Order: sequence, then C-alpha cells, then structure tokens
Amino acid sequence: MTQRKGIILAGGSGTRLYPITVSVSKQLLPVYDKPMIYYPLSVLMLAGINEIAVITTPQDQDQFMRALGDGSQWGVSLTYIVQPSPDGLAQAYLLAEDFLAGAPSAMVLGDNIFFGHGLPELLAEADAQETGGTVFGYRVADPERYGVVDFDAEGNARQIIEKPEVPPSNYAVTGLYFLDGDAPDRARKVTPSDRGELEITTLLEGYLHEGMLKVKQMGRGYAWFDTGTHASLLDAGNFVRTLQSRQGLQTGSPDEIAFDQGWIDRAGLEERGKLFAKNDYGAYLLSLLK
Ligand code: TTP
Repeated sequence: MTQRKGIILAGGSGTRLYPITVSVSKQLLPVYDKPMIYYPLSVLMLAGINEIAVITTPQDQDQFMRALGDGSQWGVSLTYIVQPSPDGLAQAYLLAEDFLAGAPSAMVLGDNIFFGHGLPELLAEADAQETGGTVFGYRVADPERYGVVDFDAEGNARQIIEKPEVPPSNYAVTGLYFLDGDAPDRARKVTPSDRGELEITTLLEGYLHEGMLKVKQMGRGYAWFDTGTHASLLDAGNFVRTLQSRQGLQTGSPDEIAFDQGWIDRAGLEERGKLFAKNDYGAYLLSLLK
C-alpha cells in the first residue's frame, strides 16, 4: 500500500477565541506547556506518518514555519500550504491534492487533542484499511455542536448529520479522518452548504452511502478535546498538566514519538532536550536518554 500522508488543518478564523486570536493563530496557543499543534501532530506521528502538510491561513503561515520548521528535527517532512479563506474542512483535500499525489491520508484538525490507552492500535487499524475510510465517534454531552452519527438498530452508522437540532445520538465525529486516495476527487464534487462551506460531513456521507466508511467508537477510556473556546482551551491545558505531573510522562511530544519511531537518534533527541533545558519539557527529553 502507498504510504499514508498526513494533513493538519490549522487555518480557520478562531472567532470564538477572540480577542486572543485577533493576532495569533488558535493552533499556536499554548495547551499547558506546548503549542496546540504539537498534539495533533503527535497523533499523526503515532500513526507512523512522517510526510505531513500543514494548512494555515496566509497571514499565519510564517509563524507555523517558525514553530515547526521543516520537520527534520523529528525526521518528518513538513510541507506548508495556504488556505486563502476558511471555506470548509473538505477543501483541505483540494488544497493538498498535489501533496497527496494519490496517496491515502489521515487528516487531523489542528485544534483537536486526543489521549487514550490503545490510541496507537486504533490508529494502526485505521491505517491498515486501504480503501474507503475510517472516522471516530466519541460520546459527548453536547452533540448538537458537531457532526453526529446516526446508528441503525445493529449499531452501524447510517448517517452523519452536521450540527443537528435534534441529535440522533450522543456520538460526535472527531476531527481525525482516515480516507483513501480518492478523497480529493470526491471533495471536488462537494458543493458548498448553506453556510458556504465545503463540509467534511458531506464528503464522509458519500463514503458512508457506498458502504466505504467505518465509524469506530472511541470509548470512554479516551479523552478528546476540541479547544475552540476559552473554557475548553483551559480544560485541555489543565488535563495535560494534571496527567503529566501525576505520571511524569509527556503527552503530545513529537520529540519523544520521533525517538520511539526511530526517526531521530540519541544525538537528535539530546539536541532538542538541550534547547529546552531550562524547563521540565527539556529535562524530560534528556531523561529519555538515560
Ligand atoms: P472551527 O473550530 O469550526 O472554526 P474556527 O477554528 O475558524 O473557529 P471559530 O468557530 O471560533 O471561528 O474549525 C475547526 C478546525 O478546522 C480548526 O482547527 C480550524 C480549522 N479550519 C480550517 O483550517 N479551515 C476552514 O475552512 C475551517 C472551517 C476550519
């Protein structure tokens, strides 16, 4: 199978986080001790993906380049793509079409944070599916804010409904989409919704109706945060802080994952650790060498 490529969608307008995001991209804001985008990047790297496109607004691209560079510090190749205006999540596949060059993809939203025991296995299963796609359903208290899964009596997904007034279930589709190499072609056929966006839900519905989309449940042992509001951003930061200080382990560290994957060697990890030697993150990276 062609090696799957990654996309981090990190554009958008971030209006719910105003006035913070008047001058800074949401996905560069801190989630406790790291820039937000480290967390979705780590998910793609955990899935074994080391060719990744980062899609940003035109005005924020420079800052993302400064934050992440070319990816070589992690043995990853990063490509930067601009989204001229926030015309919807499905547009990412059109913008990334040349980058993907027919390869299957895993796209993650730049403001989504995932944590859970068994995540690497879940990702590996999704990656192993060559045709069609896999998305993840996660139980939330407020499904009306999301794309919501409608299950039939056997528990199979039969519909995904974007922001329904009366949600058919409590299962929201998370911002992590494994799709085959046809996604750009299919995205081209998506027409803008009433709110003028190329909806990811419409793209997914196409796969679903052909029986080509798996909706896997991410169970209650997982944490999924989207960090789009002031309260949820703080919640995510507190979660990371609590977890890390209790366990003495990092979550969302591209440096650690790169080392585990064998994409960087000891010297590479040491260089990164020394760069951050004045804080716990750097000390943690250096401790991995012992
Ligand atoms: P949203 O949170 O739905 O939108 P937003 O980030 O623009 O924020 P707000 O609602 O506060 O104005 O977007 C989800 C993610 O997708 C987020 O990481 C931004 C990204 N995004 C794009 O990159 N391009 C787009 O066209 C859209 C709609 C979102």
